[in-house]
Amino acid sequence: MSLLEVDNVSKRFGGLAALKNVSFTVEAGEITGILGPNGAGKTTLFNLLSGFLPADTGRIAFDGQSIRGLKPHRIVNRGLARTFQLTRPFFGMTVVENVIVGCLAPRVRDVHVSTERRAREILDQVGLGHAADALVDVLPYGDLRRLEIARALATRPKLLLLDEPFAGLGTSEIEPLATLIRRLHDEEGLTILIIEHKLREFMQLVSRVIAMDFGEIIMTGTPAETVRHPRVIEAYIGKAEADVAAA
Ligand SMILES: Nc1ncnc2c1ncn2[C@@H]1O[C@H](COP(=O)(O)OP(=O)(O)OP(=O)(O)O)[C@@H](O)[C@H]1O
Ligand SMILES: [Mg+2]
Repeated sequence: MSLLEVDNVSKRFGGLAALKNVSFTVEAGEITGILGPNGAGKTTLFNLLSGFLPADTGRIAFDGQSIRGLKPHRIVNRGLARTFQLTRPFFGMTVVENVIVGCLAPRVRDVHVSTERRAREILDQVGLGHAADALVDVLPYGDLRRLEIARALATRPKLLLLDEPFAGLGTSEIEPLATLIRRLHDEEGLTILIIEHKLREFMQLVSRVIAMDFGEIIMTGTPAETVRHPRVIEAYIGKAEADVAAA
C-alpha cells in the first residue's frame, strides 16, 4: 500500500479544467517532486490533498483511508500537513506562539510534554531558535519560509507537502533550506511531496518527479529521465536549462 493514492482526481473552476483525471502514488519514505509551468494545477492539487478545496471526482487515500471530502484539520490529524506558496503566519503573535498553535492539534497534543518546549525544539530544528520570541511581523522573509515548515512539523506529519519552499529566496538561502529538507527526510524519515521551480535544487532533492501541464500529468520518472523528456522540455524546461539541470 502506498502512503498516498490519488486516483482519477479532477477539479474545475467554472470553464477551466484545473486538474484532469490526475492519478499517482507516493510511497512512504520518498521525496517526490511536482514540476510544471505556472497554472499547471500544482497548488490546486495540494489544495485538494489538504482539504482546502473539494475534488470534483476521484479518490484520495492516505495511509489506506479515504480523505476526500474531509476538512483540513481532520486531514492534518491523519498526518498530512502542508505549507503555503505564500507564507501565512499569524501576525501579532510571536514566532514560538505560531508553532504552538500547530502543537495543539489533537493528533500531537501530549499532556506529558510542554507544548512550548516542543515548539522551541522544532524552531531549533529548523534554525529559528534565535527568533523564537520575536514578533512574527518583524521576521525576515527567509525566516518566514522556515516558520511555514516549523508550523507544519508541529503537527507531526507523516507526509509533508511543500509548495515552493524556495520561492523568493536568494541563492545563499536556498542551499541551507534544501539541506534542512533533506535532513527532515534522512533523519526524521519524513515523506515529502514538493513543488518547486528552482530546478537544480529540486532535482538534487527528489528521487522521483511528477511533471504536469494544463492540469494533466505528462510523465513520471527519475530526475534524469525528466530533464531529457521531450514533453517536459517543451512544456517547461527549455533545452538550455535541461542541459544545466542534467549536468
Ligand atoms: N480558487 C480558484 N478559483 C478559480 N481559478 C483558480 C483557483 N485556483 C486556481 N485557479 C486556476 O487554476 C489554474 C491552476 O492554478 P494553480 O494555482 O494550481 O497553478 P500552479 O501550477 O500552482 O501555478 P504556479 O506555478 O504559478 O504556482 C490556474 O489557471 C489558476 O488561475
Ligand atoms: Mg502554485
